[in-house]
Amino acid sequence: NVFTHTFPVRLVASDASKIFYEDLKGVSDPETKRKIIGRDFLKVFKAESEKLGKLDYFAQGTIYPDVIESGQATGAAVIKSHHNVGGLPDYVDFKEIIEPLRNLFKDEVRKAGLELGIPEKLVFRQPFPGPGLGIRIIGEVTAEKVRIVQDADYIYREEVDAAVEEYRKEHGEAPEWMPNQYFAALTNMRSVGVMGDERTYDYAVALRAVNTVDFMTAEAANIPFEVLQKVMSRIINEVKGVNRCFYDITSKPPGTIEFE
Ligand code: XMP
Repeated sequence: NVFTHTFPVRLVASDASKIFYEDLKGVSDPETKRKIIGRDFLKVFKAESEKLGKLDYFAQGTIYPDVIESGQATGAAVIKSHHNVGGLPDYVDFKEIIEPLRNLFKDEVRKAGLELGIPEKLVFRQPFPGPGLGIRIIGEVTAEKVRIVQDADYIYREEVDAAVEEYRKEHGEAPEWMPNQYFAALTNMRSVGVMGDERTYDYAVALRAVNTVDFMTAEAANIPFEVLQKVMSRIINEVKGVNRCFYDITSKPPGTIEFE
């Protein structure tokens, strides 16, 4: 694990999936989902941190877009509530909350990371939203849908990485289309398809990939069609429950990068 190798910390992982699935049952509104995930996160966080005894400081990686989009910057409208903004409720008892990145945009955070000598593998990691895959699934979140998104996403990453690597070998540099963020998401749409001689009625996976500098505006990445075709074919063949694949070409604005 690059994280624990780079930072000498004891990482505590807690499988709290049951709590989340239970509370998200029947909920499909995106803001409500975010709020529930944020609340459950705090519940689990509190239980785990209490096991560690009394702690004085709490550090978190809030960055400036989180502050703007949660409507905390002057004159900003709430676009979505980021689960890391708004502070911890009173019952979480820390002397101080440390948010060293609060005034920086993502590209500035990366520059700071490089200055500090943090490995590029960590600095250039793709962003992963606080509310997790819960906001890459349209409609109700279930264990089955999470399994589909994880499996589809794995294939998508594997194929895009392989295509980028191949281009690099040939040209000595990364392709211009190399996305700054890409992931699979799950639409809530099911439609008819055929698999062998069988009729299917399964979900459509959406593939998202964007080029962006600061993640405040973005364009869909121009991934070569053959790469997308290969991803589509593997996802439909290998991921049970999927029979259709879409490529999302929406810019931000008017779209967002995430698919919720
Ligand atoms: P959107 O969807 O707002 O995403 O265009 C912009 C960038 O922010 C990430 N994102 C989040 N990151 N907590 C986070 O830490 C969140 O609640 C959250 N929502 C979106 C998203 O992955 C993209 O990089």
